[in-house]
Amino acid sequence: MTPAKYPVLMRLLHWLMAITILSIIASGWYMAGLSKDVSYKYDIYPWHKSFGILVLLLVVIRILIRWFSKVPELPKGLPNREKVLARITHYSLYALMILVPLSGLTMSDAGGRDVFFFGIQLPEFMEDNKELAGTLHTIHSYIPYAFLAIIALHMVGALKHRFMDKPENDVLGRML
Ligand code: HEM
Ligand code: HEM
Repeated sequence: MTPAKYPVLMRLLHWLMAITILSIIASGWYMAGLSKDVSYKYDIYPWHKSFGILVLLLVVIRILIRWFSKVPELPKGLPNREKVLARITHYSLYALMILVPLSGLTMSDAGGRDVFFFGIQLPEFMEDNKELAGTLHTIHSYIPYAFLAIIALHMVGALKHRFMDKPENDVLGRML
């Protein structure tokens, strides 16, 4: 028998991380767009980095919990193409929860910047390499927005099944 709902820890992590990730995307977009003359621009960076690293830690815990948990199956009545789309979306979200913060972290490290996790300085784990840092900067300037697009698709899917589908195809209730 599969459970009716996701385990409570997975539900908590899902919503905590969703709020955190959306706030980090907004903060990143805002701080990167500020002119260098704005006095508080670089006060935002350490918070962005700390919460970004927190996401990286939490996603590892989340994947481990997922691995060892029983989760509800997708509704039987869903058309196959929607099941496939849901699975691809979920895998992509897990991958991006790793790749987006990792690109930010490696960009900062390769660029020779000190990285602090809520005030604790992290050890350097890469040689300084300006060229690599530049490439990672380009990656980190784009993939968060690809992430946002997939999050939007994911939300539209969840809301569609809730409000525009048969009640037995609702999946939101299992995550609330
Ligand atoms: C879930 C995690 C993260 C998300 C969603 C995220 C998202 C973003 C976004 C949307 C931007 C603005 C991109 C632009 O418009 O140019 C940005 C910039 C930035 N991110 Fe992240 N980020 C994350 C994690 C990290 C981490 C872990 C670090 C470093 C330890 C980091 C370092 C930076 C830096 C330094 C910038 C500014 C780059 C610039 O000034 O051009 N990010 N991030
Ligand atoms: C940053 C934002 C978000 C991320 C990264 C995210 C990520 C995920 C992931 C990876 C799963 C798959 C869980 C699993 O089976 O292991 C999931 C499930 C789910 N998410 Fe999100 N989510 C986000 C925001 C939202 C929002 C805003 C909603 C509501 C509109 C939502 C509704 C759901 C629902 C209903 C499920 C369960 C789907 C099912 O039963 O198969 N998510 N989410």
